Amino acid sequence: MNITVQQGEIQNRSDEAIIVNLFEGARRGGATAAVDKASGGLISTAVDSGDFSGKRNQTLLLYAGKEMATARIIVVGLGKKEAFNLEVARQAAGTAARELQHLGIRQASTILHGSGAGGLDVVDAAEAVAEASALACYRFDEYKTSGTNKKALRKLTVIEPDHRRIPTIRRGVRAGLRIADATCLARDLINQPGNKATPTYLAQTACRIAREGERLRCQVLDEAAMKRLGMGALLAVSRGSAEPARFIILEYNKKANRHPPLVFVGKGVTFDSGGISIKQGAGMEAMKRDMSGAAAVLGAMQAISSLKLPLYAVGLVPATENLLDGKAFKPGDILQTLSGKTIEILNTDAEGRLILADALTYAERFKPAGVVDLATLTGACVTALGHHATGMMSTDETLAARVRAAGERTAERVWPLPLWDEYREQIKSDVADLKNTGGRPAGAITAAALLAEFAQGYPWVHLDIAGTAWTSKAGPYVPKGGVGVGVRLLTQLARDWPKKP
Ligand code: BES
Ligand code: MN
Ligand code: ZN
Repeated sequence: MNITVQQGEIQNRSDEAIIVNLFEGARRGGATAAVDKASGGLISTAVDSGDFSGKRNQTLLLYAGKEMATARIIVVGLGKKEAFNLEVARQAAGTAARELQHLGIRQASTILHGSGAGGLDVVDAAEAVAEASALACYRFDEYKTSGTNKKALRKLTVIEPDHRRIPTIRRGVRAGLRIADATCLARDLINQPGNKATPTYLAQTACRIAREGERLRCQVLDEAAMKRLGMGALLAVSRGSAEPARFIILEYNKKANRHPPLVFVGKGVTFDSGGISIKQGAGMEAMKRDMSGAAAVLGAMQAISSLKLPLYAVGLVPATENLLDGKAFKPGDILQTLSGKTIEILNTDAEGRLILADALTYAERFKPAGVVDLATLTGACVTALGHHATGMMSTDETLAARVRAAGERTAERVWPLPLWDEYREQIKSDVADLKNTGGRPAGAITAAALLAEFAQGYPWVHLDIAGTAWTSKAGPYVPKGGVGVGVRLLTQLARDWPKKP
């Protein structure tokens, strides 16, 4: 989407539509009052009739009369002023953009939401409007051979009366668009079917990101290289698949490596059938999205590079399918991991923790300042937190607090689950060092407890995104399908990363 910033008064614009806003129960002021006046009181009439109150994400569509140059006026509700924040601003922008897209409008102007009475920083309000508008208009329709001539909102102009604020708004819009682009890249990867988004495809995408971005370096390990290193867990999961596994290493700003890096690890299971411990048929198609953690890591690395953030960051992605075959790994097998620790397999469907175990061991060589892994790891996490929060388990309070804060800021919220020593009992094996499932109780935590055995020597946070990686219900700036969750959170974490640790 093309978003530009212009100095002017929104009521004078000649557009297919102009977007203004209204707080619930507040007196109209600023641009909205000016538009109301210019239209001969159309907004007041709607409010007085009781049809529109400015509730959060409520919209009002008005057809401007001959006195105005615009064809339509869209008013979006901001809710109660006391409850207003950055996320309400994002949702307002997304709601308006969706409405425009729905109406088949290609071009419109908008004011910033919340930079006046809402009290947001101008740069934040600008970033929110750009980010959410672009995210709201995301579509995945490359496989539709008909019905794709749907009109898209192509151009949005942010109108600001005060010329002194224009450079700041431009800066915010630029950042918002870059972050939205990276999020949409992740959504595309998630929404792609498994026959397209293979481990090889993830690796090719990572290398393309590196080629097209700045200060990025991409390295891909093939199965022979994994074997030489001793990544026995990743290779075991991959053994039942005809698609070769890949281990992706995407480094940003290595030159800054006098600082230890922030390392991201993303689960990249491009299809999870469950393996020999096969899943039931109903709903199995969703398991093409079992690489949402990988998508978040690749998206975040692109965003960090395009924002030219001043840190050293590394993205690691173990990528494989989990299928059934004569060669597939089996319950009862014992694997030797990269760390040397052995794992007894009780269930081949608990494969994510196996490939992450090797990736977390590999992360050690970077002497990281912190490691954050993201994985669609357990159904148990969905049972615990539903679809409104990512589960967080960690071995470091400071890093956890940073991740938590980044989640609040971006509205990609995380919620802590305990990782007490007692849970480790559940993953002790009689015949190997560990076993790969800990039974029904606390399934999200025992999975994390297994990861913790391999996340040694650095501060570590594990994010279980099984409930948040995709959605079956569209939100104001999130269409159905892959959410791209984690991209904005990790990018925020990197933006707030201390310069001198
Ligand atoms: N990828 C799944 C977890 C998952 C389930 C993600 C539903 C998103 C939605 C993971 O590999 C898995 O199968 N986990 C098992 C673990 C069990 C066998 C211990 C699960 O959660 O059932
Ligand atoms: Mn599985
Ligand atoms: Zn899985």
